[in-house]
Amino acid sequence: MARPLTATIDLNAILQNYRYAKKLQPTCNAFAVVKSNAYGHGAIEVARHLDNEADAFAVAAIEEALALREAGITSPVMLLEGVFEANEWALCEQHGFWAAVENKTQLDWLLASGARIEKIFVKLDSGMRRLGADKAGACDLVEKLRNSNQVGEVLLMTHFSCADDLSDISTMEQLTYFERTRHQIGSIEASVANSAAIMKWAIPEGGWIRPGIMLYGISPFVGITGQQLGLVPAMTLSSKVISVRSLKKGEKVGYGLSYEALEDHQLATVAVGYGDGYARHTQSGAPLEVNGLPAALAGRVSMDMITVRFADASESFDIGQEVVLWGGNVPVENVADYASTIGYELVTRMTTRPHYHYHTVSEIKS
Ligand SMILES: Cc1ncc(COP(=O)(O)O)c(C=O)c1O
Repeated sequence: MARPLTATIDLNAILQNYRYAKKLQPTCNAFAVVKSNAYGHGAIEVARHLDNEADAFAVAAIEEALALREAGITSPVMLLEGVFEANEWALCEQHGFWAAVENKTQLDWLLASGARIEKIFVKLDSGMRRLGADKAGACDLVEKLRNSNQVGEVLLMTHFSCADDLSDISTMEQLTYFERTRHQIGSIEASVANSAAIMKWAIPEGGWIRPGIMLYGISPFVGITGQQLGLVPAMTLSSKVISVRSLKKGEKVGYGLSYEALEDHQLATVAVGYGDGYARHTQSGAPLEVNGLPAALAGRVSMDMITVRFADASESFDIGQEVVLWGGNVPVENVADYASTIGYELVTRMTTRPHYHYHTVSEIKS
């Protein structure tokens, strides 16, 4: 009998969420952002399922792009951070990759390589102060790329710092800076929107959107779940009860004896831990479901196990009962609140240890 921890990925949910992103921005092409192993969902499996439909894929680095090609993915793949070494440009040409260019070094490497690239996205730093050129620098990059005759199309992109906070005016300021830069350049297609901007901000028509977290049915916004946004969560992390005991009021549990029973109740041990990606700092009280009933983490997360109790102390456990760690009625965003993090991190930090099951059973609504 194998360890019962399973991440079940609903590939149709991802396809549906991709279609939803395009429906929200019908004038735009859309990258499916599959970096970091498709946010822990399995980049190859996700890309294979979307390959006939996605306009293109976006990844963080050439290694991720090459892995897609090796798996037979034929759609265009874009390197969101561009190249990190000069010799990557030849590979980009060979495999038909598109790339961001955000600094003069990347440009010089490209010009020196002579590589022909179909699309280059010049990255403007509109306020994040992480990657990208300023207005004058971006205009210069665009001009030199256009004059090089090595690039089929030059586009202008930026990445917002605060699009997930609807009360923050930085997004409007960054958009204005972006549009001024675009105006100065003249005619150029735009790419500005991550999931939060696709769902909640007025973005330029045409060009390319870059949905990431929303593809996986997870919300980029604090205090609201993917389901509440009309998304379909793609991952269910589930396991089983492997041991059961009764606790008396006052008894303590686990490493550090950090959990104390405030009433008599049963305690179940479940096969999942931080070695699987269930964050160690998740606090007691984090929601989960056992046998379809509400339950909660009780005690410190170990490498391979957690201990849990039912919300209703009169309920009793049995070995083998099904436990949902997140997915279904347990939004990953709510678990993330108890781990002082965001849904992005919980799914992306999944390890290779759980069994991964892929299915396409959920109906796709148009
Ligand atoms: C440049 C860029 N575009 C798009 C995305 C996708 O963002 P999200 O997952 O919030 O949709 C990311 C992710 O970090 C990114 O770095």
